[in-house]
Amino acid sequence: MLFPDYRPRRLRQSEGLRNMIRETQLTVNDLILPLFVINGKDVKNPIPSMPGHYQLSIDNFLKTAQEVYDLEIPAIVLFGIPDKKDALGTGAYAASGIVQNAVNAVKEKIPELVVITDVCLCQYTDHGHCGVVEGNTIDNDASLDLLARTALSHAKAGADMVAPSDMMDGRVAEIREILDENNFNRVAIMAYSAKYCSAYYGPFRSAADSAPKFGDRRTYQMDPANALEAIREVTLDIEEGADIIMVKPALAYLDIICRVREEIDLPVAAYNVSGEFSMIKAAEKMGWIDGPRVMMETLTAIKRAGADLILTYFAIEAAKALRP
Ligand code: PBG
Ligand code: ZN
Repeated sequence: MLFPDYRPRRLRQSEGLRNMIRETQLTVNDLILPLFVINGKDVKNPIPSMPGHYQLSIDNFLKTAQEVYDLEIPAIVLFGIPDKKDALGTGAYAASGIVQNAVNAVKEKIPELVVITDVCLCQYTDHGHCGVVEGNTIDNDASLDLLARTALSHAKAGADMVAPSDMMDGRVAEIREILDENNFNRVAIMAYSAKYCSAYYGPFRSAADSAPKFGDRRTYQMDPANALEAIREVTLDIEEGADIIMVKPALAYLDIICRVREEIDLPVAAYNVSGEFSMIKAAEKMGWIDGPRVMMETLTAIKRAGADLILTYFAIEAAKALRP
């Protein structure tokens, strides 16, 4: 049917008609809020490049977690900022590390909130890499045990889900195995499967103090030029036991989200990363764009591309905008 018989504008005439035929419905259930926790009391250090976000001590973190829960956002993902760093990132798997303590506290206060923990070493290592450094390289296999221990310590603290973001080969299998051996088969794994070596992580690295002190992450994170490799990475993680697979970043990788969605029948998460958030905030501050509208358009686009879940620093603002 062609114009003038078919007129696409017929179904755009009113809010009611547009609501009826909308293909993508962004809901609060799609959102996961990343939060940064740090030691101390009544700490709320603003992150300059991420307006509205803070390094929070556990007391303040619990207030934000309550706000998240009250807004009916189902989940948070936790990043820790330790007091001390060392070569082996021991703070990552310390029984009373910052993340472990935060998980404990939030699970006690709000047991129904889904608590996901980022599993990595980079905030905890003095060199800032996501694995163990051997000479000038990152030793894949030596990192696996430390990552697995980190995941186990999060599970012991009460995490519902662990999210390895290190990009070492074989870490999902190692984590699944240690969790199952310790009776944590209920704890899910959301794998950062197609995680690209991206400049969009800049603001996060200052927020979490996790920039590498030498070199870069190119030997473990993916080359932005590759798409087929994303399918291989995702497939591997599923074979190793991932429950949810993630594409990261989101906005410059919508094609990857779309391809993964077509090939994979597991839930797909996308990480709307710090740089994507900061760009919108900065342009809004300059008066160049309508921030709230660009936010909703961006999140809708990520969902439309095929993401079931979106990790986003916009979660609270978006949840408020979505309220009936
Ligand atoms: C650490 C980690 C990073 C992010 C999540 N976990 C940074 C990195 O890999 O350097 C990025 C999150 C963001 O930019 O919002 N492994
Ligand atoms: Zn890392």
